[in-house]
Amino acid sequence: MSLVTVENLSVEYGKAHPTRAVRNVSLQIEENEFVGLVGESGCGKSTLGFAIARLERPPARIVEGRVIINDLVWTDMHTEDLLPHRWQDVAIVLQSGMNALNPVMSIEFQFRDVMIQHTRMSSKEILARSYEVLDMVGVPRDALRRYPHELSGGMKQRVAIAMAMLLKPQLIIMDEPTTALDMVVQRQILENLKLLRQQQAFSVLFISHDLGVVLELADRVIVMYAGQIVESQESMNLLHQPMHPYTRALLRSLPDAGATAKTFSGIPGTPPDLGKPVIGCAFAPRCDLAQSACTSSEPELLKIGTSQVRCIMTGQEVDRDRINLAGNGANQSV
Ligand SMILES: Nc1ncnc2c1ncn2[C@@H]1O[C@H](COP(=O)(O)OP(=O)(O)OP(=O)(O)O)[C@@H](O)[C@H]1O
Ligand SMILES: [Mg+2]
Repeated sequence: MSLVTVENLSVEYGKAHPTRAVRNVSLQIEENEFVGLVGESGCGKSTLGFAIARLERPPARIVEGRVIINDLVWTDMHTEDLLPHRWQDVAIVLQSGMNALNPVMSIEFQFRDVMIQHTRMSSKEILARSYEVLDMVGVPRDALRRYPHELSGGMKQRVAIAMAMLLKPQLIIMDEPTTALDMVVQRQILENLKLLRQQQAFSVLFISHDLGVVLELADRVIVMYAGQIVESQESMNLLHQPMHPYTRALLRSLPDAGATAKTFSGIPGTPPDLGKPVIGCAFAPRCDLAQSACTSSEPELLKIGTSQVRCIMTGQEVDRDRINLAGNGANQSV
């Protein structure tokens, strides 16, 4: 059983004329897996991340599907029943500036509050764990006595990551955790994140519009377009053998393969309006491979080995390769 299983999840904003921001998403996150979630602005990354953590707020609502974490069906649970699992099983780190830190309380108070609510740790143990997580993210211990406004943006974000790690959750959802920071600080935090994973086992859903950063950090990358998953592959495979035309376009828009910090640019056209039904492949109007079949029916998410792709053209290519491989007597499990 995977740590996280999302089945056919759809999330809408509003009721009268709803925007379907997440459309029938299914995914899994394994224990100790670092999954990157990428896609252009407005494609539904944050909506999906919040819905997985059951932190969706009106007008957002889950209209279909299930989220299962640690064998518990989070989508069937009441808010109060989820409380013991927050921080403990799943923690979330938001973009700096909108992070979870309370501006009027010291860092020490906020750390203590999380641990008191969820554990029976003594004051001594609480202090020791507070120091431990600050050490892990490279923040001086005296930061405990400070208030968020006394810390720089980079320090605040490290503290937010430290706070997320306090109770050793199995999953940390990070939504653009470094986007608002300057390049140097962003790099320091990303390097630190790599080190953290060597010290403590946890899974990450790392949401970013920056495919370069995601490729560098993630074991696997999920690409979203217009509320749907269009591709999922291990990072190295995605980099070298992208399957979906949208993924290929994203890779072409990077300065060079594997490089960091470049927003997606240079894909002509705009994503569809999710307030209206999407007919056929959502990417077809921007796709240079599109055929008439692409605009008539919606492509399914094809499973190819451990990868997934939602494109009939790629499906045909893969089928051709399979036939060729089979003809050559090679391994058929592409
Ligand atoms: N509070 C809201 N009310 C109505 N629609 C919303 C709301 N928040 C988001 N949306 C819509 O849902 C869609 C997905 O938004 P979301 O914020 O999840 O995208 P995103 O991929 O996280 O974008 P970004 O990269 O800019 O953070 C967008 O079309 C957006 O307009
Ligand atoms: Mg977002």
